[in-house]
Amino acid sequence: MNGEYYKTKESVKEYIELAKDVNGAELIEKLKQVLPLKSDLLEIGSGPGTDWAILNESYTVTGSDNSSEFLNHLIAKYPNGEFLNMDAITIKCEKTFDGIYSNKVLHHLKDNELIKSIKRQSEILNIDGIICHSFWKGKDFEIFKGLYVNYHDEEKIKDIFKDYFEILSIKSYQEFEEGDSILLIGKKK
Ligand SMILES: C[S@@+](CC[C@H](N)C(=O)[O-])C[C@H]1O[C@@H](n2cnc3c(N)ncnc32)[C@H](O)[C@@H]1O
Repeated sequence: MNGEYYKTKESVKEYIELAKDVNGAELIEKLKQVLPLKSDLLEIGSGPGTDWAILNESYTVTGSDNSSEFLNHLIAKYPNGEFLNMDAITIKCEKTFDGIYSNKVLHHLKDNELIKSIKRQSEILNIDGIICHSFWKGKDFEIFKGLYVNYHDEEKIKDIFKDYFEILSIKSYQEFEEGDSILLIGKKK
């Protein structure tokens, strides 16, 4: 069970301030190479909404998060946006999408939870649907600010996704330090 960070007003305010200078623009450029503009896209774990705003320039994007505090912030900041209170594991959602994007969210899931999430992602994706997810690279897990953080390497990600997704690309990149992150782009099988 994850802790309360991301769930309180104070921690959400702190996270928004800490993350104000980072965004997924480079990852979204990679997504745009495989997912046509104007496609229906679901973002999981929109948090502060920085990536949501960039995605919204190119796609019909639905944001989501399982934190009511982040959702309050998103709705206040982007009143015309569409946002769902949705958990990444169960993905309770009636709509289907052409793509699913997340930036540093799925590492909060344990391996068995990630497997459930991947199955649901496949179910809510249209034919040839695209996924684009970033992860922290490493081994094992840690508890950081009370939150579960699952580290992955390329082999583990390939293995976990392979039943439901064809891997189009999997590459390490730098968020803060060289090779600290992995970007996966896949297509629904
Ligand atoms: C590290 S932040 C990343 C936020 C945003 N994607 C960004 O790049 O700044 C993780 C986000 O995922 C959300 N989150 C964590 N676990 C989640 C889950 N199981 N389902 C949905 N959202 C989750 C948190 O509330 C938070 O907004």
